[in-house]
Amino acid sequence: MDETHIMDKQRRRILEGSLALGVLGTFGCSAEKDTVAAATKTEWGKTRDGEFVDIFTLKNATGVEARIINYGGIVVSLKVPDRTGAMGDIVAGFDSFDDYLKPPPYFGALIGRYGNRIGGAHFSLNGVEYKLPKNDGENTLHGGLRGFDKRVWSAKEISPQALELTYVSKDGEEGFPGTLTATVRYTVTDANELKIEYLAATDKDTVVNLTHHGYFNLAGDGDILSHEAMINADRFTPIDKGLIPTGDLKSVAGTPFDFRTAKAIGSRIEEKDEQLAFGRGYDHNWVLNRTGAGLELAARVTDPRSGRIMEVWTTEPGLQFYTGNFLDGSLKGKGKTYTRRSAFCMETQHFPDSPNKPSFPTTLLKPSDRYQTTTVYKFSK
Ligand code: BGC
Repeated sequence: MDETHIMDKQRRRILEGSLALGVLGTFGCSAEKDTVAAATKTEWGKTRDGEFVDIFTLKNATGVEARIINYGGIVVSLKVPDRTGAMGDIVAGFDSFDDYLKPPPYFGALIGRYGNRIGGAHFSLNGVEYKLPKNDGENTLHGGLRGFDKRVWSAKEISPQALELTYVSKDGEEGFPGTLTATVRYTVTDANELKIEYLAATDKDTVVNLTHHGYFNLAGDGDILSHEAMINADRFTPIDKGLIPTGDLKSVAGTPFDFRTAKAIGSRIEEKDEQLAFGRGYDHNWVLNRTGAGLELAARVTDPRSGRIMEVWTTEPGLQFYTGNFLDGSLKGKGKTYTRRSAFCMETQHFPDSPNKPSFPTTLLKPSDRYQTTTVYKFSK
């Protein structure tokens, strides 16, 4: 692809981005600091199509810092203080852009158009059957072969603490109907939060489930089994051996899935339990206890070693808690080897396979509606 073509492509994306904001409107709350200064932007790499990718540094007053690229909206690093005030990077990631082009564990990425699994790689909408690519056995995982995590997003620097990314997904892309315009705003707030606001609009009925796939290790190294987790959920969605929900909402009471009071992640992970066997550990969606539509506490994870605490607040009904069971030591980055259970994910979302499960909260988006969700990862010590 020649230079002019690439420039045209980039210009088109920027134009699509500004049009998108016209379509979507803007986020309700503004960035932390309403200044003209922007996030620090540096060129970081080039895709195989020759598209340039930038890295943006968002930093708050106390030094909490997120570095984010406009490829997949990936949070490459996230530095937060430990109990002594020392900053440490608490997300899994790689050192160079090219490492992110290899087959993914989705480290730190935005996931769409449909986060998590769609069973049998198909769904029906308005009497039409949509066939999707199979990229996880018989199922579709995280938006298909080339989901939102593998796309270059247009970037708008809102302030030194906020970045807005827009991606326009074409009608039929990865098998999904409708042109979907998605805008995600990342903000590092002065309350030591990484706030993620999602907006989307479509021109045809479609299904949407956007999430963020950060892999956290609050100690910065080692495994996460001694981290203590609380998940604010009385029920979870049990799965079959392909990790597709059966459709039931099962009580966590008396099971290894009961995190209603904090316990070490590793305390029951090796128990003989069919659900744990299917997930090779925790890889399930919890049905969050909710009282309304606003931001509510979904989970709290504490690392006794570093003293770091992470809370997850969300407007979403579900939380995929994944304990890095498929990490096998083959990936390396930041001087570490990503071994089994060296990180955990807390993906806020609608439930997996909702397009095929009419009893689950709907993931249908109509042209007359706006998709709008917010998730906050809040750090303290
Ligand atoms: C899924 C896991 C998967 C991981 C990486 C998680 O959201 O639930 O099964 O291995 O993403 O793809």
